[in-house]
Amino acid sequence: MLKKVVITQPLPGERLQALAGQCEMDVLTGPRSLSAPDTRAQLADCHGLICLLTDAIDLPLLDAMPSLRFVSSVSVGVDHIDVEALTARGIPVGHTPGVLVDTTADAAFALLLAAARRVAEGDRYIRGGNWRPETRWSPDFFLGKDVSGATLGIVGLGAIGQAVARRAGGFDMKVIGWTPSGRAVPGVDNVSLEELLLRSDFVSVHLALTSETRNLLDAPMIATMKPGAVLVNTARGGIVDEAALAAALDSGHLYAAGLDVFEREPVALDNPLLQHPRVVVVPHIGSATTLTRAKMVDIAVRNASAVLLGQPMPHCVNPQVYLAEALR
Ligand code: DGY
Repeated sequence: MLKKVVITQPLPGERLQALAGQCEMDVLTGPRSLSAPDTRAQLADCHGLICLLTDAIDLPLLDAMPSLRFVSSVSVGVDHIDVEALTARGIPVGHTPGVLVDTTADAAFALLLAAARRVAEGDRYIRGGNWRPETRWSPDFFLGKDVSGATLGIVGLGAIGQAVARRAGGFDMKVIGWTPSGRAVPGVDNVSLEELLLRSDFVSVHLALTSETRNLLDAPMIATMKPGAVLVNTARGGIVDEAALAAALDSGHLYAAGLDVFEREPVALDNPLLQHPRVVVVPHIGSATTLTRAKMVDIAVRNASAVLLGQPMPHCVNPQVYLAEALR
């Protein structure tokens, strides 16, 4: 009998071809939470799960899925998954590294430029009917911040952070960086996080959300930032204290922010960050290009397919499960 694999949302059909014939595919449709009782019932006999970053894979869910043998997420980040609990059960967790690096770095740069040059604010200004003869162009009209010649501090020097550093070089920025591992990256001066915040005109965050990085940029850290600086976050909302960021913007300590990610998504309309004119927001679209999303789905499918063939996942966040299995 074919094993059941549940896909938590419809994915591009042709991308799932690799799985056809290997399993019984069950695709969930419509907006639903995996904790809803009817969904739980559908998942009870599931052998594999292909999920998205919006699906919380937590202990209660795992307890309701006794047949589960793999989880494959269509994301590089896995903070929505209780990886520790899955590892303890010997269940591999797949993710999609590498393919979204340049797309996400482009998005970070788009936000950086938009925040520096007030692009979203200008767009709203015109559409709101405010650009009239009496408010016409003048030398101090819609002044922004120079990007070229400015110092960019990159928090997290993994593949995406490095791709952002390469782009910054093209804009004649000085690049400094900090990463928890202390890794050296050519063209980036490694400094402490405090020094980075103190010196940077622009700070861009590129870390995974873990228990170590949650709330890393809290009120005291944000207070350390250079006056007039711009914060860009395309990583995870939970890394930045949103209330502290909103306060720093309101007080004028920070100039602007460009945010792709939020502590809670979808972000609530009454989130104070949305009230600030210099905050440019987009709805977690850092990797959202047709090609990149297709590549992410391909990798997630390959991860699932490997397990169904009795092979190790090519992109596994907890490969120790294979070692433990070999030792059994
Ligand atoms: C991921 O894959 O973790 C990204 O946040 C998607 O853009």
